[in-house]
Amino acid sequence: MNGELPTRRQHEDWVHDITHHTFLHENMKRLIEAFRYDAHPMGILVSTVGALSTFYSEAKNIFDPIARRQQAVRLIAKMPTLAAFAYRASVGLPFVYPDNDLSYTGNFLAMLFKMAESKYRPNPVLERALDVLFILHADHEQNCSTLAMRAVGSSHPDPYSAVAAAVAALYGPLHGGANEMVLRMLKEIGSVRNVPEYIKRVKQGQVRLMGFGHRVYKNYDPRARIIKQIADQVFEVTGRNPLLDIALELERIALQDDYFVSRKLYPNVDFYSGLIYQSMKFPVETFPVLFAIPRTSGWLAQWEEMLLDPEQRIARPRQIYIGSPRRDYRTMDERM
Ligand code: CMC
Repeated sequence: MNGELPTRRQHEDWVHDITHHTFLHENMKRLIEAFRYDAHPMGILVSTVGALSTFYSEAKNIFDPIARRQQAVRLIAKMPTLAAFAYRASVGLPFVYPDNDLSYTGNFLAMLFKMAESKYRPNPVLERALDVLFILHADHEQNCSTLAMRAVGSSHPDPYSAVAAAVAALYGPLHGGANEMVLRMLKEIGSVRNVPEYIKRVKQGQVRLMGFGHRVYKNYDPRARIIKQIADQVFEVTGRNPLLDIALELERIALQDDYFVSRKLYPNVDFYSGLIYQSMKFPVETFPVLFAIPRTSGWLAQWEEMLLDPEQRIARPRQIYIGSPRRDYRTMDERM
């Protein structure tokens, strides 16, 4: 948010502020309960994060630095609560309120998975793995959802509305929805034996190899390397994910196949993250949500930078008209 790593004092204040803004207005629970039982958590997140703006009328004072910071704290603090409540509603479990004794990721795990125990204690390896994954997902330049945040933010709505647009952009399978699609793809392949046949279909253009390719990286996504290491640590706790062998075989074949090599298609951040999330018992529909939570801080930092840029004007790309030079109006009856 501020362009520099915080001092110890700033860090303590930040942790305190985030920890103490995790609760939601009780009306939000009723809003979440109103969705159909099988609602996708990203759909719920788009709606509920947008709805937050109606609870904080001062959020529209976007040129007041105090109001801006206040909304940033609320958004970063409340996203895990919204996500966890959406999940609990979808499986018919009671909501778990935030626990201020736990870390950001520890509390998130508690809100998702706490059952009858009086105190939920997250496994430290899993808590740390989620933290690393969240750091890796926090910001990544002008990707589709960040662009959505900046484009919508450029007309000066409150930040909740702009974040709702960014979450919607992230939802798509070519962006944040890719981690979910990777898992579905691995399940569809089903066995290492079927990998060559799947690669054949990819090369024939019938399907895409999800978790491969990136608009900017024309090499191995550096985040994927770190995630692969984290996967080993997680699997020591949870047991090896049986889909890992299929993923490794896909990667092995793809990295030596001319189709992928010539197009510079390498594993991206989503290729292994889904396997970790699945082993940690996250349902597959929550994977894009696990991208949205940490990316919120990046969106907000980008939004703040945009608002304070004196050259920034409303997003309004020019278009080049390539249609007919002249078209006369025809009545409905004259049209074929
Ligand atoms: N599987 C098979 N072929 C592919 C893939 C893929 N995953 N990605 C690109 N290609 C081919 C594509 O068919 C095209 O071939 P040709 O030149 O013969 O027409 C060539 O590679 C270039 O593709 P492109 O669509 O022009 O590349 P792009 O830069 O527009 O797309 C991408 C980038 C990420 C949308 C794309 O690689 C893709 O769809 N990947 C799968 C989805 C995915 O994993 N998305 C997560 C991205 S990383 C996290 C994030 O930022 O959200």
